Amino acid sequence: MTGTAAGVLARAAALGEVSEEPGRLTRRFATAALRRAGELVAAWMEAAGMEARRDAAGNVVGRYAAAGGDAGPPLVLGSHLDTVPDAGRFDGVLGVLVAVAAVERLAERGERLPFPVEVAAFADEEGVRYGVAYLGSAAYAGLFEPEWLDLVDQDGISAAAALRGLGDDPSALLRAAVPRLAGYLEVHIEQGPVLERADLPVAVVTAIAGQSRVAVVLRGQAGHAGTLPMTGRRDALAAAAAAVLTVERVAGATEGLVATVGTLVVGPGAPNVVPGEARLTLDVRHADDGVRLDALRALRDEIGRDAASRGVDLDWAVLQETDAVAMSPELRERLGAAVEAGGHAVRRLVSGAGHDAAVLARVCPAAMLFVRCAGGVSHDPRESVAEEDVAVALDVVERFLRTS
Ligand code: GLV
Ligand code: MN
Ligand code: MN
Repeated sequence: MTGTAAGVLARAAALGEVSEEPGRLTRRFATAALRRAGELVAAWMEAAGMEARRDAAGNVVGRYAAAGGDAGPPLVLGSHLDTVPDAGRFDGVLGVLVAVAAVERLAERGERLPFPVEVAAFADEEGVRYGVAYLGSAAYAGLFEPEWLDLVDQDGISAAAALRGLGDDPSALLRAAVPRLAGYLEVHIEQGPVLERADLPVAVVTAIAGQSRVAVVLRGQAGHAGTLPMTGRRDALAAAAAAVLTVERVAGATEGLVATVGTLVVGPGAPNVVPGEARLTLDVRHADDGVRLDALRALRDEIGRDAASRGVDLDWAVLQETDAVAMSPELRERLGAAVEAGGHAVRRLVSGAGHDAAVLARVCPAAMLFVRCAGGVSHDPRESVAEEDVAVALDVVERFLRTS
């Protein structure tokens, strides 16, 4: 079953069991579950004739040597192994497993390419644990920012401490140089409904929308729920509720803008205490960076004004800005030709979701292939892909490698 779509699905099912919590799939950065998933993938890489290594961020990278030695920059195939909480089995994992299967096909025929191939299984694309996305791919690309080690999760554990807890040396991340890479190709589920509606198995991604992530803290004054009159309260949760609705309204009024408050933590957090503090995260995306940045300014102004009118202070910390990224025209062209050679129309799509390819594009030409997923559902346990579509993706990657 190796090197086949059925094999990819069987492995995705196996990885779907590797979770931080019983009964649902959650695999965040620098956790034992992520490490176990990486060990499984490393074993599959080794079985496919790759030499597997694990870096200080927890990325697992398999290297398939070139014909006649191992010189020259590698072509990289990959995606991520971390997940959102209560995730599906394919976001990230599909790209890793299709990459492993593509190399397996080469190995089964005893075939080597004129260049090395690296398969990268990144440790963080979702940014769930520390609010900053792409910690894994940034580490691989030599772009890891020192201040990221000081980020703390909701339990107060810093990224540095979490990595050290797994036996990794966080300082190694800061010494990593930008690698010389020939190119990067990522296969990923579409996470939207376009391919299903168009009745097509795959699409070539043209660009990845830009994204801002903001940590917002609203500070009011906690007090007794029974004795504090309604007038004069400084209720941080009421300010947060207004902020959430402002986000929804501003995004809804701007063509192509999506903005989400995905987490909200209220303190002190008791039924009989007026909330004194609300912490929320804001995620804002648009294909045009100018539109996104204008919207972010407007949101900050409006949320700040409303909070002030309630006697609530606003703390606004931009955690991450990722500009919109165009995929490499040359790789897109080759990928499109590989899709066409399989007898499929070439659909081109802009990705609203963030991907490791957005980081890799900063250090080498990058391309992405989207695979149809049922109902366009993603970030949900109902995520699903058809075996035939995975087979198409695998064939496309194989053709792409041959023409590289
Ligand atoms: C990753 O799934 C993202 O787009 O946030
Ligand atoms: Mn993903
Ligand atoms: Mn995701």
